[in-house]
Amino acid sequence: MSIVSYELRGDIGIVRVNNPPVNALSHALREGITNTVNAARDDASRALVIVCEGRTFIAGADISEFGQPPRAPLLPDMLLAIEASDKPVVAAIHGTALGGGLETALACHYRCALASAKVGLPEVKLGLLPGAGGTQRVPRLAGVAAALDMITSGAPLAAARAADLGLLDRVFDGGDLLQQALDYSRELIAAGAPARRVRDIGIDPASAPAELFSQYREKLARRARGQLAPQHIVSCIEAAVSQPMDDGLTTERQLFMECLQSPQSAAMRHLFFAEREAAKVKDIARDTPRREIASVGIIGGGTMGGGIAMNFANVGIPVQLLEISDEALQRGLGIITGNYAATVKKGKLSEEQAARRRQLISGTTDYADLAQVDLVIEAVFENIDIKKQVFAKLDTICKPGAILATNTSYQDVNAIAAATGRPQDVIGMHFFSPANVMRLLEVVRADKTAGDVIATVMQLAKAIHKVPVLSGVCYGFIGNRMLGHYGREAQLCLIEGATPEQIDTALQNWGMAMGPLAVGDLAGLDIGYKARQGLTEEQKGDPKTYAIADALVEMGRLGQKSGSGYYRYDAETRARIVDPAVMTVVEEQAQKYGIERRAFTDEEIVNRLIFALVNEGARILEEGIAQRAGDIDIVYVNGYGFPAYRGGPMHYADSLGLKTVYETICEFRDRFGEKNWTPAPLLQQLAEAGRRFSD
Ligand code: 3HC
Ligand code: NAI
Repeated sequence: MSIVSYELRGDIGIVRVNNPPVNALSHALREGITNTVNAARDDASRALVIVCEGRTFIAGADISEFGQPPRAPLLPDMLLAIEASDKPVVAAIHGTALGGGLETALACHYRCALASAKVGLPEVKLGLLPGAGGTQRVPRLAGVAAALDMITSGAPLAAARAADLGLLDRVFDGGDLLQQALDYSRELIAAGAPARRVRDIGIDPASAPAELFSQYREKLARRARGQLAPQHIVSCIEAAVSQPMDDGLTTERQLFMECLQSPQSAAMRHLFFAEREAAKVKDIARDTPRREIASVGIIGGGTMGGGIAMNFANVGIPVQLLEISDEALQRGLGIITGNYAATVKKGKLSEEQAARRRQLISGTTDYADLAQVDLVIEAVFENIDIKKQVFAKLDTICKPGAILATNTSYQDVNAIAAATGRPQDVIGMHFFSPANVMRLLEVVRADKTAGDVIATVMQLAKAIHKVPVLSGVCYGFIGNRMLGHYGREAQLCLIEGATPEQIDTALQNWGMAMGPLAVGDLAGLDIGYKARQGLTEEQKGDPKTYAIADALVEMGRLGQKSGSGYYRYDAETRARIVDPAVMTVVEEQAQKYGIERRAFTDEEIVNRLIFALVNEGARILEEGIAQRAGDIDIVYVNGYGFPAYRGGPMHYADSLGLKTVYETICEFRDRFGEKNWTPAPLLQQLAEAGRRFSD
């Protein structure tokens, strides 16, 4: 079947789009639609319906074409052809009409949709703005305030909401979309409805005072710190109010091109494809049969176990939560109940929905209750002996074929698997805290983990709305292993001369969600301290990398939970306050280790921390712990607050040029020593060959 086909049914012309998988607006599709609509001008049709085959209406521009030279007809040309038609053109929407897909519908004269459909302008998530009239047509239909919300958030709207806003004219509860779209078109013909153009709708300037835009800009400067596209979107919507349609379209096109050519959009488009690639496992066939997961057991209802349980209940999968005692069980279940209540209070869930989800989680202290579950996830204390005992017990209880997963952060998944007689069924599922919120899931493949177990868990991750990334077994897997190096450099910059405030501000201004020391205070400085207690001096490494943290903990400064750590925290507002007492500790420790503190530039701080990530990332890639550089980027953006508009550490290094990164690391090696700064062989090799991690 061709990509665009045309059928004249009675006096209605049906323009059928068929460009799997998501009907993206490739060059061939733009050409096909433009030619078909133009050809229909002179035929017997009195109205046209644009409808799509497959799972969705047009889901947007073809993102893979963005790096290439543009080829006519461009999307705006195609939309002008549709809009110019004298015969009413009706868009019939199912699935997701996103980006250029919604813009196509908005250039049509009427829009109808199935109630299950969603519409949106997600360009901002790709570092872009709608480049084919979205910023001009949405405010004309839905008003300026709604357009600002919709386009700067990129969030899709349900059909009913879109109809309320005026973006859709008719919503069908279900049934045959094409049939109902044809009936609707006949109604329009019978009523003599004209080819109604959104461009002809005026915007009342009084609905868009200058303060609305300035407030929005300020809000975005905080919410989307450092990003180009959201501010440009505001400018485009301002132009929709102040300029005639064609001038507004020109302004939009100019700013769209600026975004398209920016490194920010390149980074975010890289992440779009990297996220989809990360879900694929190179040596496992796509059609590998999955095991069915209809029930889950979770062991340990602490910080992680409770959040993990909620993920499954939220998608309707029943959970048995096992704790060590009734008291611990009631505490764990109580926290879950409290979390659901908080979500209801925020208006994100109805009472009934929350109750239904909560009821799917039952508690037990008896392993026998896990005998029939399809998957068990262990989230007990981070102690290898306890974990081995738990897995040995599961081996005796669970039905054959059940998947046995551990949420360990650091322990050896091979050793845990060896505690069972069925290592092929054992895998790591490393969630991030808070587990019901954070999107990342590291799926840890042990030496003997079976292919179908990996395939099942990768698919299950998507079902519970996580972004899965496969990791091999090593200390800390991909994310925490790299983080160790980042944290080391933060500590060394601190003892060598920077202040906590300077380090955190430098990283935050660079784009990290939080600075490393503020993160330490949030997580609790006692966690690392306790973990170090169990290590030998040799395992602990250079004392300069933890002396300050240890001193703070020994003073009772555990971070936010004790009201102070690297900072003091206001008891009421929790605002962070610089504390001179910390600098006394820092200076004492520097003196103890014979360090003469010196001035730091923000650039040195950022380079030391971020290049420490990159260098370790290169080793992880080289060792095959991560399948691809893009997987590492997905881990950092989704699990560690790395700015999406920089594309993740490996993409960032690629964008700087690996030669530059390599040379800076060599310089650090010469200044600070080989122990921390030997360049990864893969980095050296790629830099010398003029290649990139993503090649
Ligand atoms: N261009 C190119 N390829 C696309 C694409 C697009 N717009 N959208 C999806 N794909 C590809 C994916 O890469 C994936 O390929 P793969 O199978 O080889 O990995 C395949 O289509 C299926 O995608 P998903 O796995 O994401 O499928 P889902 O069913 O989970 O989701 C979707 C479907 C909701 C449409 C989702 O793919 C999506 O959000 N796509 C992006 C939508 C978007 O951002 N549109 C705006 C583009 S920018 C634009 O339109 C600019 C304009 O204003 C000028
Ligand atoms: P936690 O201390 O909050 O909870 C552990 C729970 O396990 C406690 O409620 C305890 O009663 C229970 N438990 C202990 N032994 C048990 C046993 N034999 N049987 C049943 N229950 C038992 O710990 P947390 O933070 O939830 O961590 C759990 C695991 O998750 C650890 O392996 C940790 O490394 C990992 N993890 C923790 C993250 C975090 O940020 N807290 C992030 C990612 C992973």
